This record gives sequence, structure tokens and C-alpha cells, in this order.
Amino acid sequence: MRVLITGCHGLLGQKLVALAPDHVDIFGIDLQEESPILPPPSFSKCDITDRQQALELVLKLAPDWIINAAAYTNVDGAEKERRLCWKVNVDAVENLAYAARKVHSKIVHISTDYIFDGKDGPYDENAVPNPLGYYGRSKLAGEKALFASPIEYIIIRTMILYGKNIFGNANFVTWLIEKLKQQQPVTIVTDQIGNTTLADELAGGIWKVIGSDYRGVLNIAGREILDRLTFARQIAQVFELDESLITPITTNVLNQAAPRPLNSGLLVDKAINECNIELSNAKEGLVKLKEQFN
Ligand SMILES: NC(=O)c1ccc[n+]([C@@H]2O[C@H](COP(=O)([O-])OP(=O)(O)OC[C@H]3O[C@@H](n4cnc5c(N)ncnc54)[C@H](OP(=O)(O)O)[C@@H]3O)[C@@H](O)[C@H]2O)c1
Repeated sequence: MRVLITGCHGLLGQKLVALAPDHVDIFGIDLQEESPILPPPSFSKCDITDRQQALELVLKLAPDWIINAAAYTNVDGAEKERRLCWKVNVDAVENLAYAARKVHSKIVHISTDYIFDGKDGPYDENAVPNPLGYYGRSKLAGEKALFASPIEYIIIRTMILYGKNIFGNANFVTWLIEKLKQQQPVTIVTDQIGNTTLADELAGGIWKVIGSDYRGVLNIAGREILDRLTFARQIAQVFELDESLITPITTNVLNQAAPRPLNSGLLVDKAINECNIELSNAKEGLVKLKEQFN
């Protein structure tokens, strides 16, 4: 089986590369000239917002699956960089779907709980979306591009990804660990509720679902729904850091550019029961992460 992974240097992308099953022949693309994880000929620079570039690459590779882990993921930045956000999260999905149709590839596309307003979470796969910010609107439009396309697809919705990344930006967990290690005080919100997701488990789940007959929308996220402050305290406990440096606040005092879905969360019963995907609760996920640092 040949699989093309877009955004292979992102947090999820690098886990997909690391955890690819032996029988899968992977090819990665991202915006950099070279790849520290996928040497040639398994990597090429490709901007998926460029329709011609994306088409030529997909026609050349004719992959069985395309996993679209590339995205514009800066939630607050999206309020200002609207054009770029839309190009990556919507136009590029249309480009991939167009190319996939030519060579009968199937697509796994990654989406988010930010398509919901967070008024009445947690959400199952059939919940009605109502995004609050531009990032969420773009991600919902990306989903709709696939709903409207004739190709076979799986849309995976996930939330609050964390993990040890070889390169790329810090995520909530690695950011907090660094702050607490440096004895710096931090403020953490009490009123944002959802599942926290170890990127390795999401990647493992994606590989599992690709090997199944599942099609359509599927939630994959950590098995427990909790507030961010509780999660932050668990991080301090698991990594044996000073919990007293954490001060609770509420989201409204942060004045973030994009509104957040507060009472969010994704129901993952289908992933666990129908797809046999192993998902940890919050503490178990952190313990697994800690083992990677040893
Ligand atoms: N992180 C979360 O908490 C979270 C939560 C819910 C859903 N998701 C979704 O999960 C997926 C993976 O997220 P992630 O956190 O792994 O993202 P990430 O770390 O930001 O990685 C995205 C990757 O895509 C690349 N990329 C951006 N524009 C591209 C383009 N035009 N062509 C090719 N590659 C491009 C990025 O390169 P540059 O870094 O150079 O821009 C980056 O390497 C996304 O669909 C995201 O919306 C993430």
C-alpha cells in the first residue's frame, strides 16, 4: 500500500511517519526543501495550495491513500491571515480531492472540535457544527469540500494534540513542561473543557482505520474529557514539577483574537468500540509521553 502524507513535518505528520506499518510505502510532503525524517526519494517539497504542484505529485505517485495532516493551525493568527488560512484549510483540500479522483486515491483528512461552538459538548460524529472563529469556519469548509466530492474519504476529528516533537512548534504540554522546569509562573484556564490527545495515539488510530472499511466522519481523541486546569495540574504531577506555579484564570481575561469553544469535547465511543482504537485517559497519555523522554 502506498500512502502520501501531507504536512509530514507537523506534530501529527511526524508521528504518522514514525508509526507507519511495515507494509506501507510512505511518501511525505511539506513546505521545507529537505526532510530530516524522510530522505529522498521518499520526500519532496510541495505546497498543496498550488493546484498544479499537488496534481502532478499525486498523478506521479498514484497513492492508495492520501493522509492530509497539513493545515494552517494558528487559531488566533487565522483571524488576521484569513486568505492564507482558507487557501491551506479549504482550497488545498479541494486540490487534493481533485487529484485523488484522477488516480482513485482515498483521503484521510484531519478536522477539529473548533467546528463546534462549545455550548453543549461533548459532540458525537453527527452533531451539528457552528464554528465560532475563522479557523473553525475554514476547517468546516474543508470537511464540506470532501462531503461534496465523489472520492472515498475518512474525516478524523480530534482536539488538543500533544506529543514529543522532533521539530516544529511547542504544544500545550511541552510548553507547560518547559515553563515549569524554568520555575516560571503560568496562568491556565479553568473553563475550557475537552479531550487531550497524545499525537502518537491519533497517528496509530489513523493507521488502524485506514486498514478498515470505515468511511465518513470519526472522532479520535483522548478518552477523557476534562478542564484545562486539571490537565495542567496532572502534567505537573506526572513530570514532577511545581504545581504551585499554576494560577487558575478564565478564558475571557486572555482577550484572544479567536473565541474558543468552551464546553467542548469529542465522544470517542465509535473509535473505541467499532474501530478498536486504543485511547488513553489524560493521565495515562501523559505517562506514555514521559516514557518517551526517558
Ligand atoms: N494541534 C492541535 O491541537 C489540533 C487539534 C485539532 C485538530 N488538529 C488538526 O490536526 C491536523 C494536524 O495538526 P498539527 O498540530 O500536526 O499541525 P502542525 O504541527 O501545524 O503541522 C502542519 C504541517 O503542515 C504544513 N503545511 C502548512 N501549509 C502547507 C502547505 N500549503 N503545503 C504543505 N504543507 C503545509 C506545516 O508547515 P509549516 O510549519 O512550515 O507551516 C506543518 O509542517 C490539522 O489538520 C489540524 O487542523 C490539530
